[in-house]
Amino acid sequence: MPTPPHLADALSQRQQQGLLRQLGAGLEGVDLYSNDYLALAQSRLLHQQIQQALADRGLLGHGATGARLLSGGTDLALELEAELAQHFKAEAALLFNSGYVANLGLLQAISRRQDLVLYDALCHTSLREGIRLGLGKNYAFRHNDLAHLTDLLSRHQPTISKQGGVIYIVVESLYSMDGDMAPLQAMTTLAQQFGAYIIVDEAHSTGLFGPDQQGAPPRHHGAGLVVQLGLEPYIFARIHTFGKAFGAHGASVVGADSLIQYLVNFSRSFVYTTMMPAHGLMAIRESLRLQNGQGIPAGQLQKRFWDAVATWQRLVATAGLNVVSAHAGPIQIILTPGNANARSLALYLQQAGFAVKPVLSPTVPKGQERIRICLHNYNTEAELSQLLQACAKILLAT
Ligand SMILES: Cc1ncc(COP(=O)(O)O)c(C=O)c1O
Repeated sequence: MPTPPHLADALSQRQQQGLLRQLGAGLEGVDLYSNDYLALAQSRLLHQQIQQALADRGLLGHGATGARLLSGGTDLALELEAELAQHFKAEAALLFNSGYVANLGLLQAISRRQDLVLYDALCHTSLREGIRLGLGKNYAFRHNDLAHLTDLLSRHQPTISKQGGVIYIVVESLYSMDGDMAPLQAMTTLAQQFGAYIIVDEAHSTGLFGPDQQGAPPRHHGAGLVVQLGLEPYIFARIHTFGKAFGAHGASVVGADSLIQYLVNFSRSFVYTTMMPAHGLMAIRESLRLQNGQGIPAGQLQKRFWDAVATWQRLVATAGLNVVSAHAGPIQIILTPGNANARSLALYLQQAGFAVKPVLSPTVPKGQERIRICLHNYNTEAELSQLLQACAKILLAT
């Protein structure tokens, strides 16, 4: 069957621009590009615990047979949600098939015609798509720019409240492309001042951030940046994804019981899809339990991860490369303005044995092209040091 000509035209245009996306088997080399921050995706211990837990309940688990509200509902899902709610310090939690789907379903459901959504300009595509599916007006504020956010709030709040609407503020706790954090404390104060509701996507902080070890109950390790800052009573909704540090798949929206009941009724990407199978649910549950001390000491995975971050920060401080970030988190960037520069540095690093990918424009603004480095709890000082030396060879020579 022939395809409409615009498909081939669009692909050849991409090819000419050097931006054609192609499927592959992944890169060889030291992993500095996956989201497997805690090395759980390939963990033998976790694998065994999942198999054991499924066997203990007599579950085969590879098909859920229907949507959650039809034949796909299980006690296991309800129990897991209760466990997730407790872990993330929320009244309730609701599982979705992925973070992308959770963001679509949450934002589509809550934003009515009379509402307004203000979102950070660097928010992930899934948040923006969800905002577009909702009926409310929406505006982006400049990345982490509180003055711009305040200005938008003051300008629109009187009209929105006159028409009986509400304002949502949508941010990521830790930004997926830049690795920096939202100023959540100041935003919470601002939201209270204007009666706005904050939504935080914790995709890249889940499993990593949480209350520090001193005096904190171990079960909240990795509960996210909002819990680390003690702001959970002031945040309307949080999205925790399980395909990154959890080494599994899926996501959960957490918040008030009334929010979760509302989503069960009105979130289309929750209602109209086949439920995640038992195996997926068990992978999330066992990953959570492993992190909380089942089989290894609680907090151990996170401690190793933060040691790797500290090593990176120390090495960057002496590397003399002012284009390399040293954020306190998993995502670091090496700025290499220009698609050609980013591509050639990535290729050089790949040939030197590092699995890294360039991030090109238009995915990031022109001039902000970069190599995105993801740190993991298994990255060694030697690996990180060799990576920076290889970067220096290219960057300091140009
Ligand atoms: C900030 C953010 N939100 C949501 C998602 C989507 O999550 P998932 O991969 O579980 O669909 C991602 C994935 O990269 C992300 O970075």
